[in-house]
Amino acid sequence: MNDPGHLNDPSNLARELAATLSARAIYQPTHYRRAFSGETGVSAPPELVGEPPLGEPMAAVFNESGTNTDRWELLRAEALSCQICRLCETRTQVVFGEGNPNADLMFVGEAPGRDEDEQGRPFVGRAGKLLTDMIVGMGLKREDVFIANVLKCRPPKNRDPMRDEVEACRPFLEQQIELIRPKIICALGNHALRRLTDTDQGITKLRGKPIPLLGTTVVPTYHPAYLLRNPAAKRQVWEDLKTILGLLGLPVPAPKRRDG
Ligand code: URA
Repeated sequence: MNDPGHLNDPSNLARELAATLSARAIYQPTHYRRAFSGETGVSAPPELVGEPPLGEPMAAVFNESGTNTDRWELLRAEALSCQICRLCETRTQVVFGEGNPNADLMFVGEAPGRDEDEQGRPFVGRAGKLLTDMIVGMGLKREDVFIANVLKCRPPKNRDPMRDEVEACRPFLEQQIELIRPKIICALGNHALRRLTDTDQGITKLRGKPIPLLGTTVVPTYHPAYLLRNPAAKRQVWEDLKTILGLLGLPVPAPKRRDG
């Protein structure tokens, strides 16, 4: 393997990516399939029932030879130079996602907003501050989890993602999930819920309900931006976060006392 420094040259990077992606068939949806069942009453398509869970346990995925670390870095490099859909023309920066690639818990939002587009980091604006508060309220830090979005680029004026944009971006999210192998994916809002599970039911109906998704579990809750407009819904979100802590086998921290 070449020294990774050679990837700093864009022409080397492109050549390396083309060779590696075709050799490793990175974008074939090998294990990740959308299927859901259980409490929601939505059944998995029959052809998917009984499929093996997602690849190997995390320790094996990030193995000593570094093979999947390379795969992660290639995935990131591919995302950062992506020109598949129209959003590449209006974005400032690609927002690949950030956090622990070994996380048990992954949050998936909709798409970067203005602050995220400027900084190249997910959930750093007002809604992001609230997400950080939610994570801290769970007794965790942002660095403990992985935070990503359905779309890696900002839609102009924060409009809703278009179907072809979601489809173009889907392999990035699928590969992130396949490599991270989180125990729980918290889907933030309707866009994330629908993209992850293909359900046509809404967040109000499904929030807080664990949805098995081959090898992992999706728990939907309200998007932090919704909470900024509807603070009363924070109580329901806290219930959903407690459900997640329970599924992860983590203790529920005592609520912080507000003095005065
Ligand atoms: N809203 C999202 O869905 N994602 C972000 O990264 C920021 C705001």
